Amino acid sequence: MSVSEKLLLCLLSPALLIVTAQVSPIQVSGLITQSVSLAPTEHLAHPVEETLWFYKINGTRYRLADFRNQHLIIRHSQFFQRLEVDNSGTRLWIRELRSEDTGSYTAAIVLQDTTQTVKLAFTLTVYEPVPYPDIKMEKVWITPDWCNFTLHCSAPTKSSALSYSWMYRHKERYQPYTNGTTIHVSLQPESWDEEYLCFIHNPADQKNVSISLQKFCPDTIKDKSCRMKLYIYLPILTALSLSLAALIIVTRTKRQNINNTGYLYSCNQMEKH
Ligand SMILES: *[C@@H]1O[C@H](CO)[C@@H](O)[C@H](O)[C@H]1NC(C)=O
Ligand SMILES: *[C@@H]1O[C@H](CO)[C@@H](O)[C@H](O)[C@H]1NC(C)=O
Ligand SMILES: *[C@@H]1O[C@H](CO)[C@@H](O)[C@H](O)[C@H]1NC(C)=O
Ligand SMILES: *[C@@H]1O[C@H](CO)[C@@H](O)[C@H](O)[C@H]1NC(C)=O
Repeated sequence: MSVSEKLLLCLLSPALLIVTAQVSPIQVSGLITQSVSLAPTEHLAHPVEETLWFYKINGTRYRLADFRNQHLIIRHSQFFQRLEVDNSGTRLWIRELRSEDTGSYTAAIVLQDTTQTVKLAFTLTVYEPVPYPDIKMEKVWITPDWCNFTLHCSAPTKSSALSYSWMYRHKERYQPYTNGTTIHVSLQPESWDEEYLCFIHNPADQKNVSISLQKFCPDTIKDKSCRMKLYIYLPILTALSLSLAALIIVTRTKRQNINNTGYLYSCNQMEKH
């Protein structure tokens, strides 16, 4: 190796030392009080010498933890008692998440027998649990052929990180419906036994609530049997009501006659006095 070659290698080596993978950070979502893990997505080709973890919030970078000689040292008080590692310190677990843990995390993994350092970057967002949503049936139009209605889904929260979606269930099968807080649905009688579910979610949690249509769109089967019975009973009912009407008329006429006689009688009495 010539002197100039050696010189060139010396100049290049600092650049070789650190393999700065300028990849965009991995997005990680966590839920308050739960755990989350940050880990490389690819297999490391060499054994790990040491791993250094950093945490950045409001533009300031802090040393978070070092893993060296099978030993983890936590360096930031916010994370005392809440960090664990495995895979030679390359996977970091954060337990009992707090909202202030939201931030950027980086790791520098120094590999054995090489001059390589693998860099990892994560963006962790810690979310609140999603509240249970509530469905309101806003408008219903019912005709024998259609049950048209509007459903509105809402949740008691001011959080803006929530999104709403819907599903419907017909005979044990769930099908996705549209997204958004409000849906307009037009259904023909064969679908009047469906159930609608509103899902509310953020990247870390989701909840659902359902509404059964039977209460709002009358049951077709019950309706049909009701109609069939009506065909049988209609003549009887008509006959019954007719005779009842006749009976009422007859009694009224009789009563009127009695009243009339009474009146006449009293008149006669008045005439007598
Ligand atoms: C970061 O900034 C926010 C608002 O500016 C503040 O509430 C929070 O305490 C800061 N966090 C740290 C760790 O400095
Ligand atoms: C609903 O939104 C999700 C993402 O938020 C999207 O993947 C999906 O395609 C949307 N579905 C409909 C029916 O618009
Ligand atoms: C219900 O919706 C259907 C389909 O959109 C429409 O043809 C029908 O007129 C609507 N009925 C009522 C009562 O609104
Ligand atoms: C709706 O939420 C319940 C818990 O409240 C859950 O058991 C069920 O699996 C959810 N339904 C769907 C379709 O995800």
